Amino acid sequence: MAKHTITLIPGDGIGPEIVAATVRVVEATGVDIEWETQIIGAQALEKFGTTIPESTIESIKRNKVALKGPLTTPVGKGFTSVNVGLRKALDLYANVRPIKALPNVPCRYPELDLVIVRENTESLYAGLEHVVVPGVVESLKIITEKASTRIARYAFEYARKHNRKKVTAMHKANIMKLSDGLFLQCFHDVAKDYPEIEADDKIIDNACMQLVMRPEQFEVMVLENLYGDIVSDLCAGLIGGLGLAPGANIGELGAVFEAVHGSAPDIAGQGIANPTAIMMSAFMMLRHIEEFAAADAAEKAMMDVYADGDVRTRDLGGSSSTADFASAIVEKLKP
Ligand code: NAI
Repeated sequence: MAKHTITLIPGDGIGPEIVAATVRVVEATGVDIEWETQIIGAQALEKFGTTIPESTIESIKRNKVALKGPLTTPVGKGFTSVNVGLRKALDLYANVRPIKALPNVPCRYPELDLVIVRENTESLYAGLEHVVVPGVVESLKIITEKASTRIARYAFEYARKHNRKKVTAMHKANIMKLSDGLFLQCFHDVAKDYPEIEADDKIIDNACMQLVMRPEQFEVMVLENLYGDIVSDLCAGLIGGLGLAPGANIGELGAVFEAVHGSAPDIAGQGIANPTAIMMSAFMMLRHIEEFAAADAAEKAMMDVYADGDVRTRDLGGSSSTADFASAIVEKLKP
């Protein structure tokens, strides 16, 4: 029997291509995993008549860990985000997104190493919208003391565990005095329990400018859901693009590992997507299941491929395919 059973959601768009490449690399480490493949999103709607089948939720609850490709959400119409639905259904409240430059990859900040902790369950991102009267739409921003305290505590615990010295909350409490004000208050209340860690806060618009000009001043950043979403893509841009930013959605019921980027319909089906972000999410997953040696070996193999510089995907100026990139890493993992 396999030592670990993990739910595998290939997703759509570039999802199946990058997930297949990632499974090859994970398996090349020799780690003993049985994958339980599940569908969700548009494919599930067609097969089961629902975008989030109970069987998928049950699989993640049972296994406690999932690796997930991106899922497409129709813009301005159609079904609501399955990504958001999944995070809510499993109460995956902390979205952790390390932003670290890779060796030999041209980018604006080659030394950058920071972490985004995004609240994953509420704020404006919850999609609570309705038409008040024709021509007037209301979108609700929910901020609770419980969720704000929980995410602040997660950020400080993360900082303590990973030996980071500073946590910065980003907010708009000057304008949204009650909602962002509550988020900020909870942040500073929690900070009192972590006297060895500097607690800083910045208004989100200034924070974005600071991130572009002097990102090295940040270590761990904690943000509400929508701000965290936007700032994640901004930060991915600082280290070379969306193909490079991994992530994890963590909660008490389980953990779902996925890249920051979406399903990239513009390049889907061509075998040219960069699988780095989801591979690095998988390495985070290996550490989560305490397969540290496998994670270290796979990460080192990937860093060596980057350091060699011969094999890289088109988004980074190369001509290698998704599969070529995976093969180069698998080759490095051979004894
Ligand atoms: P996107 O992240 O899919 O793509 C933005 C740009 O980055 C595109 O030009 C794309 O080709 C490029 N890109 C993204 N990932 C790449 C990779 N691995 N390698 C090379 N290039 C890459 O964002 P977009 O276009 O706004 O969204 C497309 C769909 O993805 C939407 O339906 C959106 O809702 C969904 N989405 C899903 C997410 C998830 O499943 N967690 C997260 C973000 C968006």
